[in-house]
Amino acid sequence: MTDRQTQPILSLRGISKSFGGVRALSDVSIDLTPGKVVALVGDNGAGKSTLVKTMSGVLRPDRGQYFFEGREVHPAGPAAVAEMGVQTVYQDLALCNNLDAVQNLFLGRELTGPWYSAGRIRRAEAERRARDVLRRLRLDGISLTRNVGAMSGGQRQNIAIARSILWEPKVVLLDEPTAALSHSAAAQVGDLVRELASHGLAVLVISHDIHHFVLDNTDVIEVLRLGRNAGRFDSKAVTGEQVVNAMVGGDAAVNAAG
Ligand SMILES: Nc1ncnc2c1ncn2[C@@H]1O[C@H](COP(=O)(O)OP(=O)(O)O)[C@@H](O)[C@H]1O
Ligand SMILES: [Mg+2]
Repeated sequence: MTDRQTQPILSLRGISKSFGGVRALSDVSIDLTPGKVVALVGDNGAGKSTLVKTMSGVLRPDRGQYFFEGREVHPAGPAAVAEMGVQTVYQDLALCNNLDAVQNLFLGRELTGPWYSAGRIRRAEAERRARDVLRRLRLDGISLTRNVGAMSGGQRQNIAIARSILWEPKVVLLDEPTAALSHSAAAQVGDLVRELASHGLAVLVISHDIHHFVLDNTDVIEVLRLGRNAGRFDSKAVTGEQVVNAMVGGDAAVNAAG
């Protein structure tokens, strides 16, 4: 592996963020690296979503630094972060159930050029591009013409992720893509997450599913506890119990891990 590949593309350093009297993040640091999947784990309220919103430019930290491709940046907001090449997929997915996969993939995209006419994407071109991106992501099994409302939770999640890829990002942030999914659906999302990393993307994924998702599909596990860094593990060299211990901390670990 070359040095370039092992350098982080996105780093946060010493991030602190309070909401009124609530300290959501205290001096948190994290690195995302091309070709690697980082799991962000922690109990409810640990600060995971706040950290992702800081990365995606939705929240401005009170303190700390944001580095992208080796340079410090001061993102003005979510559009500026997306422009740098960082896409975020939120839990609610924002899919339209009464539209098919092709329509959902191109939803809200302001496309110009020869194949854009009268405010609508030409269907044939959209289908071609949709088929191309789904094939690249090994999602050929997804129907282009079925309403997404009739699809499984795993397929819907994967369409939402595929949509973010149409912007050709360098970094993808996924806030709980496996929440409310069955184990087999979560496994489908796991396959896609690893596929993204194999294309050189840096991926961050929030998940509570340590045993069935995080250990199998990620490279690094970053633990937050009470708004602080509480452990960083190689996913291949750690047990679920060690991760849970870091999440809950102290004596509570004995109970929670049992
Ligand atoms: N917009 C907000 N206003 C007030 N408090 C917030 C807000 N967002 C998050 N918090 C608080 O910050 C802490 C971290 O929340 P969050 O980042 O959502 O944790 P997680 O995603 O790990 O469950 C919690 O105590 C939460 O109540
Ligand atoms: Mg959250």
